[in-house]
Amino acid sequence: METAHDEPSGAAAAPPWWRDAVFYQVYVRSFADSDGDGVGDLEGIRSRLGYLELLGVDALWLTPFFTSPMADHGYDVADPRDVDPLFGDLAAFDRLVAEAHEHGIRVTIDLVPNHTSDQHPWFAAALRGGPERARYHFRPGRGAGGELPPNNWTSVFGGPAWTRSPDGEWYLHLFAPQQPDLNWDDSDVRADLVRTLRFWLDRGVDGFRVDVAHGMAKAPGLPDLDPAVVPVLTGAHAHPVEDPRFDNDEVHDIHRMIRQVVDRYADTVTVGEIWVQTDERFARYVRPDELHLGFNFKLALTAFDADSVRRAIDNSLAAVAATGAPPTWTLSNHDVERHVTRYGGGETGTRRARAMALVQLALPGVVFLYNGEELGLPNVDLPDWALQDPIHEHTGGRERGRDGCRVPMPWEGGGPTFGFSTGDRSWLPMPSDWASFTVESQLEDPGSVLSLYRHALEVRKTVEAFDGEELEWYGAPPGCFAFRRKGGGLICALNTSDAPVPLPPGEVLLASGPVTSSDLPPETAVWLV
Ligand code: NOJ
Ligand code: MG
Repeated sequence: METAHDEPSGAAAAPPWWRDAVFYQVYVRSFADSDGDGVGDLEGIRSRLGYLELLGVDALWLTPFFTSPMADHGYDVADPRDVDPLFGDLAAFDRLVAEAHEHGIRVTIDLVPNHTSDQHPWFAAALRGGPERARYHFRPGRGAGGELPPNNWTSVFGGPAWTRSPDGEWYLHLFAPQQPDLNWDDSDVRADLVRTLRFWLDRGVDGFRVDVAHGMAKAPGLPDLDPAVVPVLTGAHAHPVEDPRFDNDEVHDIHRMIRQVVDRYADTVTVGEIWVQTDERFARYVRPDELHLGFNFKLALTAFDADSVRRAIDNSLAAVAATGAPPTWTLSNHDVERHVTRYGGGETGTRRARAMALVQLALPGVVFLYNGEELGLPNVDLPDWALQDPIHEHTGGRERGRDGCRVPMPWEGGGPTFGFSTGDRSWLPMPSDWASFTVESQLEDPGSVLSLYRHALEVRKTVEAFDGEELEWYGAPPGCFAFRRKGGGLICALNTSDAPVPLPPGEVLLASGPVTSSDLPPETAVWLV
């Protein structure tokens, strides 16, 4: 509920709950299916809240469950203030939030301000030539007959960022053609976002994950980009959204507007998906009057190598040092290959992922876990017929897309859905050999990845050694590192080399694999006090 912001001056405010929170990302389609249609839904999530409490997470981030034709699995929103029937209804959402809170778990949801679905009523009206056209970016084409796109921007998903509408003009979409970009100069677009924020805040959500937080404001005049100056972070495309010219004042104005609404509700948080080129530009978004937190993908892009991981940690800490915001840590999400696979897959990938889990959970700040990583799920190499990600289609099959990290959660029993669905199908096929990954099979096994996460999350929450936000590095043998949390004194040591090294002094709290009293084995991490 809305609260006034008039704390007595001079009262020492307790740190906000999210400063060291563990968020758990629920990819809604893939978490739990309650109605047997093969697609995860809100009731499914509600039915698994006991598990999430047992796991020990503080908050959920739910990916989009809003009304959508699902061209990008919900990131194409046709009505931002309703639930798609595929996922449930508003009553189911209210039940989920209320029960999550009873379990001591906060609920944050996705906000998709950069674009709508092409099935949004505004876009339909825009195509009919209505005044709603001003809420998108329509432009005449180039060439004698306007047959060429207005500029050279490419879509993040492949192909041009422009599609010609039946009346001959082109509209801009940084993602799929079914995701037309909104024009943030338009006051109706802004007013509608405020309505959306208040709608969900009034229903009790604890905050928002802001999709494409860096992309809403376009370079004035929509100029051609020099492909040579556009860095290519992923895939083979120039990403207009990563061009420095997008980081103009207007985008920050939007974030300030969001923050003003969110700040009227107690204990809320916003986290931005910010893909920009430099830490300096990243830090501009994370401010007392803009986003509380920014996603940090550095660990998700770093190899299993102590020097590289240490560099990623140092750079991450430096990136937010001047902002006053805590760092955030992510190993996987619904857009990238799962890290077990990235680290080599199989037993090697699992061993390394276990070690990195202890590194991630030892760091000061905010952790984002992606559903299934607590089970050690690998990426799945899906057959062509099963692929659904628009990236696969828009790159003409050159890229396989992100389906492999979105395969549903195995809960119990056997195939084909391992308890994911009450029916016998899942929207992406689940590998027939996943019985050993199920929650059921891992819960009672003290050596499972799930047991490691449960144990680590509990220790992280209850042991004072995790206090404080500063860390210091120790000298360590090649291929290894050790850091200490300055406040509480926790030591985390990682060995990425292929030989055992001496264990730092201290009492072992937890290890990612078998350790002796004197040795830290290869590809292992340990917590000591
Ligand atoms: C980022 C989301 O994480 C991704 O899944 C989506 O496709 C794009 N934004 C477009 O909304
Ligand atoms: Mg369902």
